[in-house]
Amino acid sequence: MILIANWKAYVEDTKKAAVLLKLAKRLARASEATMVIAPPAPFLSLLAHKERALAFAAQDVSLTTGGATTGESTAQAYVSAGATYAIIGHSERRAMGDSMADVAQKLSHALAHELRPVLCIGEKERDSDGRYLAHIREQLDSALRHLSQKERKQIILAYEPIWAIGKNADAAIRPADLSEMVLYIRKVLSELLPGRSGLTVPVLYGGSVEPENIRLLSEGTGVDGFLVGHASTDPVMWTKLVKALA
Ligand code: PGA
Repeated sequence: MILIANWKAYVEDTKKAAVLLKLAKRLARASEATMVIAPPAPFLSLLAHKERALAFAAQDVSLTTGGATTGESTAQAYVSAGATYAIIGHSERRAMGDSMADVAQKLSHALAHELRPVLCIGEKERDSDGRYLAHIREQLDSALRHLSQKERKQIILAYEPIWAIGKNADAAIRPADLSEMVLYIRKVLSELLPGRSGLTVPVLYGGSVEPENIRLLSEGTGVDGFLVGHASTDPVMWTKLVKALA
């Protein structure tokens, strides 16, 4: 299991970051899951260089590769700060303007610097005639099309339906619907990756994962882990959630 704590911009001071880091370290020791922390960029180097038992992710990488681009944080800078993963194509970044082509380019930058990408895909809403499935296929296809077969195998996928993000356990996807989506994603992956390697790409779920639903969502749904937002920044919830998964 892979458990990614996406702190988004919920953590805004170093004191809170330090408390969450200490907790994550303790929980990671008792958990079999691979725990990855995705802090806001200014805290990354501070935390990652202090803590070698946990892995760290960038929440995004720049479309640029350096130079005169004020305010940008490049894939290379994230690696230097201690990240080994990068969340790419999160719906909150797409809502701020990242096109499918931008997502594809960011994936290439991450891979070029050996950051393992966590590619986020997900539909805005569900319709009864299955158009959301075509959207998922398009997101996958446009992101992976330009990558080599070897690069495609490096990807971790996070299925995050936008309608389920940032709410509470009751609003998350139902386990049966998640199983169905995981199967569909694997089907598309097997068309885009050689041989059986589409089966080995980890598929995570994100969207209102909380202590109350993580177990249900992990049992028999075929997911390989979770991308957790708000619940990963509340010490009580995060503790319960990691224990529930164990
Ligand atoms: P949430 O966020 O757990 O707060 O729904 C998940 C995500 O957007 O990665």
